[in-house]
Amino acid sequence: MEENPFREDDLDMRNRPEACVLVIFGATGDLTHRKLIPALYNLAADGDLPVGLKVVGFARREKTDEIFREGLEELNKKVSRQGHDDGLWEQFAQSITYHESNFNDAEGYHRLKERLDKMEEEGASPNRLFYLASAPEFFDDILLHLKDSGLNESKNGWCRAVVEKPFGTDLATAQHLNQTVNNTFQERDTYRIDHYLGKETAQNIMVLRFANALFELLWNNRCIDHIQVTCAEHFGMEGGRGGYYDKSGALRDMVQNHLLQLVSLIAMEPPADLSADGVRDEKVKVMKCLRPLTPEDVAENVVRAQYTAGTVNGEEVPAYRREDRVDPGSMTESYVALRIFIDNWRWEGVPFYVRMGKRLPKKGTEISIHFKHAPNVLFNALSGAEAMPGNVLVIRIQPDEGISLGMRSKRPGPAALLQPVKMDFRYQTSFGKSSPEAYERLLLDSMAGDATLFARKDEVETAWKYIDQIEDAWHKSSDPPKMAEYPAGSWGPKEADLLIEQDGREWRRL
Ligand code: BG6
Repeated sequence: MEENPFREDDLDMRNRPEACVLVIFGATGDLTHRKLIPALYNLAADGDLPVGLKVVGFARREKTDEIFREGLEELNKKVSRQGHDDGLWEQFAQSITYHESNFNDAEGYHRLKERLDKMEEEGASPNRLFYLASAPEFFDDILLHLKDSGLNESKNGWCRAVVEKPFGTDLATAQHLNQTVNNTFQERDTYRIDHYLGKETAQNIMVLRFANALFELLWNNRCIDHIQVTCAEHFGMEGGRGGYYDKSGALRDMVQNHLLQLVSLIAMEPPADLSADGVRDEKVKVMKCLRPLTPEDVAENVVRAQYTAGTVNGEEVPAYRREDRVDPGSMTESYVALRIFIDNWRWEGVPFYVRMGKRLPKKGTEISIHFKHAPNVLFNALSGAEAMPGNVLVIRIQPDEGISLGMRSKRPGPAALLQPVKMDFRYQTSFGKSSPEAYERLLLDSMAGDATLFARKDEVETAWKYIDQIEDAWHKSSDPPKMAEYPAGSWGPKEADLLIEQDGREWRRL
């Protein structure tokens, strides 16, 4: 075997990523510069990149290989997780080339085929990984042309497609895209990205639950009162994002994919095995048990809101409707809060409160599992005990990745006084290094043929089916629920507080 120039191989239990030619569509875009190339560079720095990997950037703009690499290098210096080493970059960048073509130009794909065939003759891998990182409106064109030009098949190796989000904008468009993808690539060769699944902390949810007997015994409606999933972001529509976001909104942008995936991981039954389908079968079962919503249920269980002008981290920021590229009369939500029920044996009666908002006071994603209180006798009968937080297990997805368990303790001294305390596990302290970026793991897995951390066709469609009920109640009903407001820099609208407070509970502060 050829020697890895970056570091020794370390064996692990996963499939081994195989060398391939990675063709990135939309190579001049932000995702390629900010996420994909830095992820590959950091894999190279860790010695995990398969030897012989080649990258071909496919995009419309006129560029030479050198100019393309320079642009990538500039961004890598700014965002790379492990810094930027000129020597390593030099070596890594040699594997990157640029292919100029419009996405709907058949001739560009024929040239690409000739180019890949020639690379193969010269010793490059016959395996081909096509990464759709362009604007989503080009996904159809790209897939059809890959098929027409015969690029979806390789005589001597495998061909796979990685499809970025958003995977459709509703059930109908997701079904259409699924059909186009499956006409071009087999389902087992299709990798639908949900980068939350690549986050170490999200992967650890299954380990926490199924590698420790302790939690699993308590993980049900007998012991759990409710669950909260919060994703807060302090930023708004910077960098021209308003154009995309205003057509999407918090529900479609984050809940349909990332947050419903977190809910599934928390709520799923133990899978039969750790195969991609074993895990995804169980996740999809959770989605199928989400309680259906009538328009009246939507009004009662879902709050949507937009931010008004305010102050975030000491900086004055405009209202959502005043943001760059946002329609001044926009009815797109920058915040959403939901009360979700999962109608199955394990979760009957346990609400999942899920919220996501832009321009909140800080960035952070966490899941909190709120256990039922011990009986109100003995210590819990003491004054003040009722209002004190009980056992809450918090899974901090990001930042400050970790898990903490809150409990009540006796305060030292002669009096029987209780005080809430917590046991805390922090990745940084326990493992002494930062976790890899989600894209590092996902790129490796797609090269290894492991689809466990990618969304399957039925998962995506089932999630859209649920979300469509809400979108329809908002946009198609004659009496849509109102759009609430919250000042930028606050923790969201009072209507969302009411949603949880009317159940006698409150949102956990991050
Ligand atoms: C993306 C959304 O999928 O996820 C963004 O489109 C959001 O709006 C981002 O900001 C959040 O990702 P992360 O990894 O920063 O939590």
